[in-house]
Amino acid sequence: MKTLRVGLLGCGQVGSGFFSLLTAKKRFFETEIGVSFELAGVAVRSRKKKRPVRIPPSLFTEAESLVRDPSVDVVVELIGGTIEAKSLVLDALRQGKHVVTANKALLAEHGDEVFELAHQMNRAVCFEASVGGGIPVIKALREGLVGNQIDAIHSIINGTSNYILTAMSEKKIDFKQALSEAQAKGYAEADPTLDIEGIDAAHKLAVLARFAFGGRVHFPDIYCEGISRIRGEDIAFAEEFGYRIKLLAIAKLGADGLEARVQPALLPEKHILANVNRSFNAVMLHGDEVGDVLFYGRGAGARPTASAVISDLVDIAKQPGRFSATTAPMRAIRKNLVIKSISSIQSRYYLRFHVVDRPGVLAKIAQVLGGHKISISDVIQKERSAGSIVPLILLTHHAHEKNVRQAITRIDRLNGVRGKSQVLRIEGDA
Ligand code: HSE
Repeated sequence: MKTLRVGLLGCGQVGSGFFSLLTAKKRFFETEIGVSFELAGVAVRSRKKKRPVRIPPSLFTEAESLVRDPSVDVVVELIGGTIEAKSLVLDALRQGKHVVTANKALLAEHGDEVFELAHQMNRAVCFEASVGGGIPVIKALREGLVGNQIDAIHSIINGTSNYILTAMSEKKIDFKQALSEAQAKGYAEADPTLDIEGIDAAHKLAVLARFAFGGRVHFPDIYCEGISRIRGEDIAFAEEFGYRIKLLAIAKLGADGLEARVQPALLPEKHILANVNRSFNAVMLHGDEVGDVLFYGRGAGARPTASAVISDLVDIAKQPGRFSATTAPMRAIRKNLVIKSISSIQSRYYLRFHVVDRPGVLAKIAQVLGGHKISISDVIQKERSAGSIVPLILLTHHAHEKNVRQAITRIDRLNGVRGKSQVLRIEGDA
């Protein structure tokens, strides 16, 4: 029987779920898994805060002393954020502790420093819970798919945004209403910025890309668009064309560099990712040997996240020696991955304009698009009513992003076009 002394940093929703799992399944871990977990201490900002679990007062301690406690083998960091968490994680590693973290922001923005120190100290930094909550995608990358060169990631890795987009589609409500509903049900934070502006998904994509492609990713270079500018009409028009709108986190490795972007995009309604709904997450990886592999499950929540944390702890308890070569088990992180500028990509596009309904407006728009080598594949104009403002939707064949951006700037200035146009990429096979 292996015994692991665990220090817990943070006891919010996820920390409480972890505490609860560790306590409720203590015997299961001992008899079935052969690991005895002992909780050495719990460090929280407020000991009086109401929690779903009761922490014995004797376990409360200060974070700084917990990471220095000589009896602690592993520090589990569940406080989030990048300032305090970074300092505690680095301190824990310097003290010779292994670290388990769910903190994608920390790893996306300071991963090099954290992993480098772990490597020097010959300690593990495990992070299964940082991407896709309870979905064991990191483990799959480092073990099950180890024989593959991974060349593409297509994923839905922000449950909040997926919940909002699903509600907009199913209930025909607008973004604000769907966000309020998500907040009322606990799927969105009071300040939802990180989730709805795509930053949380970009953090997770940075972590995935690093380990899938075996290279350092400069987080600020990941192109990031959120869902706050998606209107109910975009969801409805996309559906008329046979598409659904999803917040996708995409990374593709090519000979000329890495494409890495988070964006709301149209997916054909039959595409498997188009059918990932509500708060669920899914990660589709493409490996040169295996082809497409799909991981689906709950990307957030106390119990799924705790499930991932436990799997990291069991790895550390059972195989401490495996971390000696690298803290990115199995896949070496050797190169800097150069992320291509978004303007260099090619895609199909959904374009939505608000135009004055009068002869010649569509012709002028088509002329600008044609002049930028953008070929139209479909058109819808709704609610015909002469002289009023109506939506005009065009889908394009593959075009250069740079050309699309230039064309849209010109179109937005045309007499007869009102407001800012909507531009969304179309992914998946048409
Ligand atoms: N806020 C995240 C989401 C879950 O909505 O998916 C934690 O990573």
